[in-house]
Amino acid sequence: MKLTEVKHPLIQHKMGLLRAATISTKQFRELAREIGSLLTYEATTDLPLEETSIEGWCGTIPIRQIQGKKVTVVPILRAGLGMMDGVLEHLPSARISVVGIYRDEDSLQPVPYFQKLAPDIDQRLAIVVDPMLATGGSMIATIDLLKQQGCKQIKALVLVAAPEGIAALSAAHPDIELFTAAIDQKLNEQGYILPGLGDAGDKLFGTK
Ligand code: URA
Repeated sequence: MKLTEVKHPLIQHKMGLLRAATISTKQFRELAREIGSLLTYEATTDLPLEETSIEGWCGTIPIRQIQGKKVTVVPILRAGLGMMDGVLEHLPSARISVVGIYRDEDSLQPVPYFQKLAPDIDQRLAIVVDPMLATGGSMIATIDLLKQQGCKQIKALVLVAAPEGIAALSAAHPDIELFTAAIDQKLNEQGYILPGLGDAGDKLFGTK
């Protein structure tokens, strides 16, 4: 698996703000979207271009445009929705393929409960978004599901990754790319990332 910890100063600054215990729901939402946007910029540097032309003010001029069927964004419910708009800032025509997977709080195992994918997902780059790569269970289950539908190119964007999640994801899906804004220390007994930022879903939705 190709792993990129994106160390852009803007990302590091915003990640620092995101970790504050006293952060408001509004600010957490804004920062998750902004960091999602910056990660998307990094994750799309290799999108293939094709040569074409347009009528400019002084006649026909050559331009380049992104080739092919382009992208589907895959937010993993519910916390992935917090990064989705950041991806769409750069890829406003992307199709959205929603996957619902929750983590059983006792077994920590992923439980799929919803999926509505772009019908031509097998021809698109899938950009999967979920703020926290903890055990990796939800991300692995989502990518299993995308591959079952014929998806061939997959990039995952997360805000914080635990070493345990990175190892599990890399073992299950060595062919994907992972972009993270931070690699933290470890998981605690409850499956939370340390130091992490707490429960990203609750912070995004204001449910705690
Ligand atoms: N999910 C979260 O929201 N936070 C963690 O630390 C781990 C999983």
